[in-house]
Parts: sequence; structure tokens; C-alpha cells
Amino acid sequence: MKVIPGLEGIAVAETELSLVDGEKGHFVYRGHWVKELAVSRTFEDVVHLLWYGHLPSEEEGKRFRELLNAHRELPGHVKDILERIPSDADMMSVLRTGVSALTMEGDWPPSPEQGAAVLGAVPAIIAARAHRLRGTQLPPVRKDLSHTAHYLYLLTGENPAGAHVRALEAYLILTAEHGMNASTFAGRVVASAQSDLLSALTAAIGALKGPLHGGAPSEVEGMLEEIGTVERAEGWLRGKLEKGERLMGFGHRVYKTRDPRAEALRRVSEELAGENPWFRLALETEKIALGLLKEYKPGRRLYTNVEFYAAAVLRAVGLPKELYTPTFTLSRTAGWCAHIFDQARQNRIIRPQSLYNGPMPEER
Ligand code: ACO
Repeated sequence: MKVIPGLEGIAVAETELSLVDGEKGHFVYRGHWVKELAVSRTFEDVVHLLWYGHLPSEEEGKRFRELLNAHRELPGHVKDILERIPSDADMMSVLRTGVSALTMEGDWPPSPEQGAAVLGAVPAIIAARAHRLRGTQLPPVRKDLSHTAHYLYLLTGENPAGAHVRALEAYLILTAEHGMNASTFAGRVVASAQSDLLSALTAAIGALKGPLHGGAPSEVEGMLEEIGTVERAEGWLRGKLEKGERLMGFGHRVYKTRDPRAEALRRVSEELAGENPWFRLALETEKIALGLLKEYKPGRRLYTNVEFYAAAVLRAVGLPKELYTPTFTLSRTAGWCAHIFDQARQNRIIRPQSLYNGPMPEER
């Protein structure tokens, strides 16, 4: 037996859900280029593709939207629990608790109906908390808006702008699923013990919260805020690299070329933010950072990852920094559920081993 730190290069499942080819920069959901889905399909269509194996017909799409819509209203006890969590608790911990507090019928096997109950409720959990912190009221649930538009509406109480809905929808589609990343693996490990969907999703949210995984976009924004102007970028970035620190929004375990999601999101944010000074700062910072990473980390093949431009898109649609990772959670709940269904279909408990390297007691 050999220890493989971080399980790098190890495949733990066969799946039809997605291809992430880090050398070619290919990213596919069930035979479809994700960058094309992002500009031609709704989030609900893509969730249907991931959960049921095909893009929906008109009738299937309608039924699926109704299934999701049926869970937009939060159960009273979940609202109460969210109210009682102290205001200094971070958003991801609140979201983890909110999801964990949902209840559903049946434990095993996990089903799309159960998945819809969680995915339908996540926007309201995030928005309920955002309103509680602002001291405002969650607006009444509506049934006439798409999942993406409804999320923006719940946050602001207003009809969202079409351009914002399209940009956020592209973001949600591009981040809905991404192979065997840390949070997906965490969810599959829990599901492999034949535990319930909510437990598996709660574990996945815990993993996504970490700054090396889903916590990066708000850190990217923090980094750009500290840099402030293009003139300061090189000195600031160099200072970090001299101290051996990492630049947020760069590097990826799998992509050893440009992350195709970053490329697609850069285009989306360019359309939306155009000449906005903050967006220009992001573009210039990226260029300088890529040059410096080559200088300080030669041969490591470090490129811009999805989180760098996620920050730009989410900011451009008006979301505050503390909602970046929760919004990522909203989209990735779709991918986690798809993987958990996949795990259940071909289940074998995930049980790797560790190598003992401590002392031995005397033989008796
Ligand atoms: N800035 C500077 N150096 C870096 C960065 C970075 N962002 N990323 C990796 N490196 C360096 C490491 O220091 C290491 O250098 P060394 O060989 O001198 O020790 C080398 O590149 C290889 O790094 P690893 O840690 O082996 O790469 P790993 O595959 O484990 O890490 C990760 C991937 C966690 C994403 C890493 O690149 C990172 O920390 N990036 C910054 C955080 C970030 O943007 N996270 C979001 C990822 S996307 C997502 O999860 C949705």
C-alpha cells in the first residue's frame, strides 16, 4: 500500500455526469459542452440533464419547474432556527444548519424528489438570513419566476434585471457540477454509508466552505479591494508571493491549462461590467498575477480558476461578498445531488485505509 496525499490522480468512481479534462481544458455535462449550455439553457434544464440524464422536453421541463417551485416556501421551524442563530455566525455555517434542519420523507435511496426539496429551499435559506442581518423582511414567495430570477427577487424584493438573471444563470450552470472535487467526494462518502441525502449535503457544504475550495471568490474580491489600483497590483502580488502565500483565484488540482469556466465567466462579466473600473482592475491584476506566478512558481502550470471571475460576475449582479460562497452552494447542490444519486445506483461503501507509522508495543 502507498499513501497518495490528497488522493491526487486517483479515480474513485465511473460516472456519466461530467468530464473535466484538465490538460485539454474540456468541460462536459453528459455529452454537452458546458460553455454552450451556459448561454443557451436555463439552470432548471441543466439540473434536469444532470439528475435524469437528458435535457427536458417542454412537458418534462414544466413538471420539473413545478417540482422545484413547490419547495420555495421555507418550513416554519427552519425559519425559526435561522432566526435564532447569532448574527456573528458566518453565512455558510447558517446555510449548513438550514439545510440540515430541513426534513423529508424516506432516507434511502436518495431521489430527485428529495433533491428538489433541498434545491428549491436553498435560495430562501440564503435570502432569509440576508434579510435577518439587514433587518428587513423576506418578500413573499412567487411562482412566476425562474429559479435564478426568484433567488435575486428573494434577496432584493424587486423584479431582477434581465441581464442580471442571464449572467447569474450562466454562473449557476457553469458551477453546478465539477467531477470529484472535495465537497462532492465528501457527499458521496456520507451517501456510501447509506445515510440520507440531507446528511450527505450537509457534509458537502462543510467542505465547500473552506477557502481552498468554495471560499475563494470572496477572498478574490478582498484581494482586489486591497490592491485598489492597477499601479499597486504588481507590488502587492509580489509581496504575497515573496512571503510564500497563495494568490486566490489561481491554480487548480485538475486544470493545468486555463479553467474553461473562468474563460466563459470572463466573457459574461465583460458583457455585464464592460468598462467598470473594478472589472478593469480584475483584468489587469489577472495579467500581472499570471506573469508573476510563472516567475515565482515556474513549471507549476498555474492559471486563473473559476473563482477569480466568479467574484466579478457575482459583484456585477449586485450580490454582496458574503453571499458568494452561498450562491456557489446553491448551484453545486445540483451537482452534489446528481453524484449522490449516482453513488446510490452503484453503491459500495467508501472505505480507504491509512498506514500506521507510530511505535509498536512490545510483543506479548
Ligand atoms: N498561488 C501561488 N502559488 C500556488 C497557488 C496559488 N494560487 N496554487 C498553487 N501554488 C503553488 C504551490 O505553492 C506549490 O508550490 P511548490 O511546488 O513550490 O510547493 C505548487 O503551486 C503546487 O501546488 P499544490 O498545493 O500542490 O496544488 P494543489 O493541486 O494541491 O492545490 C489549489 C490546488 C488548492 C486550488 C491551489 O492552487 C490553491 O490554493 N489556490 C488558491 C485558492 C483558490 O483559488 N481556490 C479555488 C479553487 S477552484 C474551486 O475549488 C472551485
